[in-house]
Amino acid sequence: MSKKNIQVLLVRRPQGWVQESDFRLVETELPALRNGEVLVKHLYLSLDPYMRGTMNDAKSYQAKVELEQVMRGGIVGVVEASRHPNFQENDLVSGYLGWQQYSISTGQDALGRNIRKLHPKAGIAPSLYLGVLGMPGVTAWIGLVSISQPKAGETLVVSAASGAVGSVAGQLARIRGCRVVGIAGGKAKCDYVVNELGFDACVDYKAGHLAEDLARATPVGIDIDFENVGGEVLEAVALRLNPLARIALCGLVSEYNEIAPQGFRNFGALLTWRIKLQGFNVGDPDSLKLWPQAQSELEQLILAKKLTYRESIVNGIEQAPGAFIGMLKGENFGKQLVKLT
Ligand SMILES: NC(=O)c1ccc[n+]([C@@H]2O[C@H](COP(=O)([O-])OP(=O)(O)OC[C@H]3O[C@@H](n4cnc5c(N)ncnc54)[C@H](OP(=O)(O)O)[C@@H]3O)[C@@H](O)[C@H]2O)c1
Repeated sequence: MSKKNIQVLLVRRPQGWVQESDFRLVETELPALRNGEVLVKHLYLSLDPYMRGTMNDAKSYQAKVELEQVMRGGIVGVVEASRHPNFQENDLVSGYLGWQQYSISTGQDALGRNIRKLHPKAGIAPSLYLGVLGMPGVTAWIGLVSISQPKAGETLVVSAASGAVGSVAGQLARIRGCRVVGIAGGKAKCDYVVNELGFDACVDYKAGHLAEDLARATPVGIDIDFENVGGEVLEAVALRLNPLARIALCGLVSEYNEIAPQGFRNFGALLTWRIKLQGFNVGDPDSLKLWPQAQSELEQLILAKKLTYRESIVNGIEQAPGAFIGMLKGENFGKQLVKLT
């Protein structure tokens, strides 16, 4: 009997904030598998801020998604049938196979990379390959270890601190002996960042006195800014930077839905204090070389219960557009996932 597949297509390029009507759900019938193809049943879909950039008709750090095409996204899934020599039924796999319940491919994903087989150790849930052990966790590791190069005793500030990347970056910095201050939206997230992630302090940027609270939380200034947010958060951080501080520019999520982002008004601080700012991309060729080292450390830390993580999970592919919009507004609490079965 033929199998149905529900897919989420991009049907309109958002102007400003994403709307649910920028997407359309379609039900298609899966064709019969041909020689050299593999059918993957998707278990979890990852929702990530970078996806907002792929909806624009412009260059972002991933190629744009064409209109009427399936939204691109990372998944963890299980091989349901295979006529491909490298895959067997029941293999656990991961790749950019899209916002849909199933995919058929020739073993490569939407980025042209080989679909990866996963071999989780006992105690490692498959969904972690989309979060702490996947792209966000590796981003945190690269931004911290390779870009920021922290030294024990330095003060590191990380924004979107309770999120998929920020929570890992802060914990890795803490393990390396830094004093770590998070910035997050709301008391519940800040309590989590301090009490469960073990950061030294957390500033609630929504409380209305960011500059004062940040000054109190960073009495000797800031040596490293792990920047996930941009906008007013980055401007406040810039005024607390110490001479020769570093900014690891990971993301600017506060600006992704702005038609005309306001820009960085305290840019002069970088000149005055001789600050080094470096953007980076977890998917560029230099970063890809670091994935095995990063994943190995992250896995060891998880197995040793030295790394805490949290997931925000909605059920069903139909929920993906709403959950994606919610994540961009900060409604997620930890790694945003869609469970598909
Ligand atoms: N460079 C790379 O290769 C790379 C790779 C992955 C991710 N990233 C970037 O890393 C950042 C975090 O990604 P993630 O996957 O870990 O997402 P996340 O932190 O789990 O979710 C996004 C968070 O952004 C915060 N946010 C949204 N609008 C904001 C605003 N106006 N001001 C302040 N905070 C706001 C919200 O947290 P609050 O509730 O705390 O506001 C929200 O929960 C993003 O900027 C993303 O683009 C970069």
